[in-house]
Amino acid sequence: MAQRKSLNVNGKSVNITIDDPDMPLLYALRDNLALHGPRFGCGLEQCGACTVHVDGRAVRSCVMKLSSLKAGQKVVTLEGLGTARRPHRVQKAFIDEQAAQCGYCINGMIMEAAAFLARTKNPSEADIKKALANNLCRCGTHARIVRAVKRASTSA
Ligand code: FES
Ligand code: FES
Repeated sequence: MAQRKSLNVNGKSVNITIDDPDMPLLYALRDNLALHGPRFGCGLEQCGACTVHVDGRAVRSCVMKLSSLKAGQKVVTLEGLGTARRPHRVQKAFIDEQAAQCGYCINGMIMEAAAFLARTKNPSEADIKKALANNLCRCGTHARIVRAVKRASTSA
């Protein structure tokens, strides 16, 4: 039966109509709210393409049930991290380093890196690789991605 669900996404309160309270957050973001930053990759919590922030923590939205989101929890997607005019430091660093090939993994890489840098000052290259170890890139863009995160870590 259709029901309403309230969410806080990118700083705004939104209401969506859903049939299944256990629908993945990713589907609500992409299909109900037209936020296409988060991608469907594996759907199995394995690749990271669907990563968003919930209360500042990087989560895999493909397996996060809407029913598990508590009222008031803040969801941030790639679209809410920064804007074209005022990109987040990680978004800017990815552009500066041209750290993408097909781009499919980049949402997850940026969202994971942004959450990581918010809690980690001056990470080493090894720290960055460890933080992104569970985000898959099939294009082999890893070297540029790590350079971009390192660059972001040194900018304010
Ligand atoms: S689509 Fe969510 S982890 Fe792969
Ligand atoms: S840039 Fe293509 S999957 Fe990473």
